[in-house]
Amino acid sequence: MLEALIDGPALAPHREALVQRPRRWLVTGAAGFIGSNLVETLLSLDQHVVGLDNFATGHQRNLDEVVKAVGPERAGRFHFITGDIRDLRTCETAVAGADVVLHQAALGSVPRSIADPLTSHDTNVTGFLNMLDAARRAGVGRFVYAASSSTYGDEPNLPKREERIGNPLSPYAVTKLVNELYAAVYARSYGFKATGLRYFNVFGPRQDPHGPYAAVIPKWLDAMIAGEPITINGDGETSRDFCFVLNAVQANLLAALAPDEAQGEVFNVAVGHRTSLNRLFGLLRDGLGGHGFDYAADPVYAPFRAGDVRHSEAEIAKAASLIGYAPTHDIEAGLTAALPWYLGQAARQG
Ligand SMILES: NC(=O)c1ccc[n+]([C@@H]2O[C@H](COP(=O)([O-])OP(=O)(O)OC[C@H]3O[C@@H](n4cnc5c(N)ncnc54)[C@H](O)[C@@H]3O)[C@@H](O)[C@H]2O)c1
Repeated sequence: MLEALIDGPALAPHREALVQRPRRWLVTGAAGFIGSNLVETLLSLDQHVVGLDNFATGHQRNLDEVVKAVGPERAGRFHFITGDIRDLRTCETAVAGADVVLHQAALGSVPRSIADPLTSHDTNVTGFLNMLDAARRAGVGRFVYAASSSTYGDEPNLPKREERIGNPLSPYAVTKLVNELYAAVYARSYGFKATGLRYFNVFGPRQDPHGPYAAVIPKWLDAMIAGEPITINGDGETSRDFCFVLNAVQANLLAALAPDEAQGEVFNVAVGHRTSLNRLFGLLRDGLGGHGFDYAADPVYAPFRAGDVRHSEAEIAKAASLIGYAPTHDIEAGLTAALPWYLGQAARQG
């Protein structure tokens, strides 16, 4: 699966230089979904990687899988720190000697932030600022952070363009907007540039299917594999620009390797197409059918969820032109790549 990314046209030109001159990367949220995919890719490119995570929503099994995938030699270049970004000292220790920070640690999920705004704020705002400031004082060369499409809030126009945002619709969206505001102010006040990647509904292997705040694709796949009913919030015509995780990984690497002029920007990271929940359900049912799983039930329709935006679709031209972003997987290719992992997971859990 990684070959499509590493040998793809966007990353291939950087590959030789990376392998010849490995950098030291700090990946926060390394035990999480996107973070563990970043660690795996970086180790596969012979980089030195420090991971930081407090296992709030991440899992040791994700790290174990990465180590197994890259093999013992490359895993020897990985150092993991169990720690919390809300603690400044921990951030200072983790960032020491890093050339690049890929900051992924945060509490995701709109409903989680509505249920507990204070913890989301502490992690996503205070934790972010700790990491940003520790990186600035440590003289880190590149700082790339996970921003979010939730920042578009009530902005009605499609596709979403970076320069046009609306009002945030949830505490989570506020935290991600504040990240961008701090990044801009750090560039102005200290000349320290941080690049924000506004992810749009990322999915793929190791995205957690369990718990009340699971994202739609892993949650549905898990239920469908178990033969349980799935629920659609709303009429099913709500749409999202579903982005396979290796596209997000590509964007991180490209943003980190881009020249100074491209630093300090905010980029949409998506595919540039939207898919309704009704169509997503059909794709998952067909995909599982291809693996011999017949899911015959229809979805159950429930009320719309508070804080959710109706449609989401990204304009990705800015990332394409400034950092050379070129997604390798559309939703169908992403699901094809992700399905075996979810089936394997289900089989392992019996
Ligand atoms: N997955 C998406 O669709 C999506 C969309 C937009 C933005 N994002 C952002 O991308 C980033 C990664 O998300 P993900 O989907 O991989 O979620 P995830 O929950 O799998 O990963 C987040 C990781 O951060 C860790 N973490 C949380 N609080 C921490 C703390 N205080 N100290 C140290 N580590 C902590 C968690 O344990 C977890 O491993 C997050 O910043 C999220 O807000 C994700």
